[in-house]
Amino acid sequence: MAPTPVWRRTPRFGGAWRLGVAALLFAVAACSGAVSPDRGDARPGQAAIASPHPLATRAGQEVLEAGGNAFDAAVAVSAALAVVEPFGSGIGGGGFFLLHRAEDGHQVMVDARETAPGEATRDMYLDDDGQPIPRLSQDGALAAGIPGLPAALVHISERYGRLPLADVLAPAIRHAEDGFEAYERMILGLRFKEDLMRESDAVSAVFFPEGRMPEPGDLIRQTDLAQTLRTLARDGHDGFYRGPLAETLVEGVRAKGGIWSLEDFAEYRVIERAPDVIEYGDARIVAASLPSSGGVVLSIVLNILDGFDLDALSEPERHHLVIEAMRRGYRDRALYLGDPDFTDIPHARLTHPLYAAGLRAAIRRDRAMPSDLLPGIAAGDESPQTTHYSVIDADGNRVATTQTLNFWYGAGVMAPGTGVMLNNEMDDFSTKPGVPDGFDLVTAEANAIAPGKRMLSSMTPTFVESPRGVAILGTPGGSRIITMVLLGTLAFLDGRDADEIVAMRRYHHQYLPDRVSHERGAFSEEIATALEAKGHELAESGRDFGNLQLVMWEYNGNRVSAASDPRNESGDAQVY
Ligand code: DON
Repeated sequence: MAPTPVWRRTPRFGGAWRLGVAALLFAVAACSGAVSPDRGDARPGQAAIASPHPLATRAGQEVLEAGGNAFDAAVAVSAALAVVEPFGSGIGGGGFFLLHRAEDGHQVMVDARETAPGEATRDMYLDDDGQPIPRLSQDGALAAGIPGLPAALVHISERYGRLPLADVLAPAIRHAEDGFEAYERMILGLRFKEDLMRESDAVSAVFFPEGRMPEPGDLIRQTDLAQTLRTLARDGHDGFYRGPLAETLVEGVRAKGGIWSLEDFAEYRVIERAPDVIEYGDARIVAASLPSSGGVVLSIVLNILDGFDLDALSEPERHHLVIEAMRRGYRDRALYLGDPDFTDIPHARLTHPLYAAGLRAAIRRDRAMPSDLLPGIAAGDESPQTTHYSVIDADGNRVATTQTLNFWYGAGVMAPGTGVMLNNEMDDFSTKPGVPDGFDLVTAEANAIAPGKRMLSSMTPTFVESPRGVAILGTPGGSRIITMVLLGTLAFLDGRDADEIVAMRRYHHQYLPDRVSHERGAFSEEIATALEAKGHELAESGRDFGNLQLVMWEYNGNRVSAASDPRNESGDAQVY
């Protein structure tokens, strides 16, 4: 795999310079056959999909070939992943969909995050002494929020797609009905969660056929899930959120100690939100906004970095500054962020360049700042659950989606008769302010549990728009998602190609715990020594970070490329 790249900061051109550069690019484009976003007619002319599973990529392709656009393809890929990657996301989970419509440049984030059930209470995972009850927010029906993914599939299909929902869901229904072949990654997750999953007959019947752990190539059939998807295809939003299916889901969850209600289902809506837009050098980064923390954290980090001349620095110095910027971005995540519909979030302040300038001024070039010396919270690895895909169509419509059940196979339980695995997203709330969640992330009051509220997320589907072209990217990886997207963004702006960007070695700092976790080979010995000399604690992780899916449209030569993270044996990126 490629080592961590050294990137150059793209220059910040203002006013006349920017116009001059745009004119120059236009002139070069006109002579060289390159396209320019400034010419209204620019279109990639090719489509591309990068997803973590070939059946999902093919589902999208099938829909494109049937005359669908990127939004139809996205719905097909999402639904197929919910079937063939049942450990990572599902109809019982949620996600964020970042859309770009080419004809008018409309950009929107469809927030399909789960909500806390109406009977949820702030201290529901604490014992009488006020201490968190181990695993209660992660295992079993009480850990599940109200699903958002079905609502998003219907919403995106109806508002942005061209084809009927039933056509777009057809590949997923087929894979659920006919089965897909078990593979290493899904079996790994089953081993991890086996004890809990075997407690449920409905789960066992699907994932432990004939009562045994499946082997690669064994067929996993999900006939109940196929039926649930058919109901969604036929009856749309209400088919899932009202009527017999909702009743079966709610009854099943309550029988297992959960607190879902029919009112929660009737009230569930996706929310269309403006994405966060960050100006960095001559690039524009469009990223998931609250209740994903991705856009705000990226904004703080990039605004800090924008004030440094990274080009002029040595490699260790650059990494040092990136780590210090990550630290501060995650500190603010911990302190301030949560569902903006429930808490006043100082969004304008946190994303203001002058706020970042203040943070930048307090960064020492020679020393790491220990996290506990930053005003903040006094107080914590991930595996490849959750999932991401990226799509562009020949007209330039784009989708970046990250969707999840949270941990491996979510809460490990199913509502019997529905095939719907429950998420364990409630763990992303602050079960007790200052107590780390399953990703060792600490959050505060802003992310306390309340009925109907959406839990803070790190999922960061992102578009990077620069004179080079457009990158559509994202990854699973819990708390590390944002720093992986950051490193991928910087590498794209540095001119790296798609294969290099998905392969490069990654590192991460999240404020608490105060250490730089990294993949093997992320830093040379010399760089590691230099970083340690500045006071950074480096912790090599035994695991791979993430599963990045990237589609790129470069204006020079009007070239579309796609790459799937080599850390995942089943990734499938295609250009059509
Ligand atoms: O929303 C979040 O930030 C988490 N529930 C995402 C979980 C995740 O990425 C797990 N994969 N490694």
